[in-house]
Amino acid sequence: MTAGDPKVHALVTGATSGIGLTVARGLLALGHRVFATGRSSQRLGQLREESGERAGTLHTFACDLSRTEEIGRLIDAATETLSHRIDILVNNAGIAIFGEVEETTLEDFERLMAVNLRAPFLLSRAILPIMKRHRNGLIVNISSVAGLEAWAGSSLYSMTKFALRGLTGSLLAEGAPCGVKAVAICPGYVATPLVSGAPVPESEMIQPEDILRTILYLRELSPAAVAGDIVLKRLGGV
Ligand SMILES: NC(=O)c1ccc[n+]([C@@H]2O[C@H](COP(=O)([O-])OP(=O)(O)OC[C@H]3O[C@@H](n4cnc5c(N)ncnc54)[C@H](OP(=O)(O)O)[C@@H]3O)[C@@H](O)[C@H]2O)c1
Repeated sequence: MTAGDPKVHALVTGATSGIGLTVARGLLALGHRVFATGRSSQRLGQLREESGERAGTLHTFACDLSRTEEIGRLIDAATETLSHRIDILVNNAGIAIFGEVEETTLEDFERLMAVNLRAPFLLSRAILPIMKRHRNGLIVNISSVAGLEAWAGSSLYSMTKFALRGLTGSLLAEGAPCGVKAVAICPGYVATPLVSGAPVPESEMIQPEDILRTILYLRELSPAAVAGDIVLKRLGGV
């Protein structure tokens, strides 16, 4: 997916910060049409302002993905705005709550499930048929190394990220006959506000641009090739 390629239509969730913001900026810089969403209208406005002449291919929609009715509105707006063609869906928005199982509340459980799992499920469910009709599409689910292994205190987060890999597997199996791919990216620490309190210096973390590069690589593969889950580790650690 280079500057010379046909322009793609991309829907990126969590595009107001960290990985999603970098992915949205990167796709815009390549001249692609980007539908960017997050809760913060103010940060979506900033993205619009900084996009300058690229703002014509940027569409923004503020939406709280923990609310199913708002996801319905997001799907309607994105499909309409992108003329019922979505080539890339990046299910990136996510939150992290850590704590031992016995201290975990039902509210925490429901919040994490809603944002990290139900939202990607509902978006994928709506957009997979559109991709199948066009016989083209890539669904990228941002899982985590915590979706491959669980640690003390990671239960809720790991549950959502393991499950996201399960969803990805079924999306791939169901999309493949129609040329639609689904891949989970499982990074270790990425330098974003989500992990600002982590015990690892930012300079030793994976950069959000590495996730953008991974998505561009996935799009560049020939139609018959697809990557399995992509695990991006920090050099010398998770
Ligand atoms: N950073 C890491 O080390 C790391 C490692 C592995 C996986 N990941 C995963 O990568 C993804 C992106 O994380 P990040 O590190 O870029 O975090 P981040 O900088 O905190 O960004 C999270 C994004 O998710 C959006 N979001 C959160 N709750 C939302 C809600 N209820 N409705 C709609 N949007 C919501 C936020 O937008 P608003 O605040 O505007 O709502 C923001 O744009 C997450 O799924 C995370 O689990 C991160």
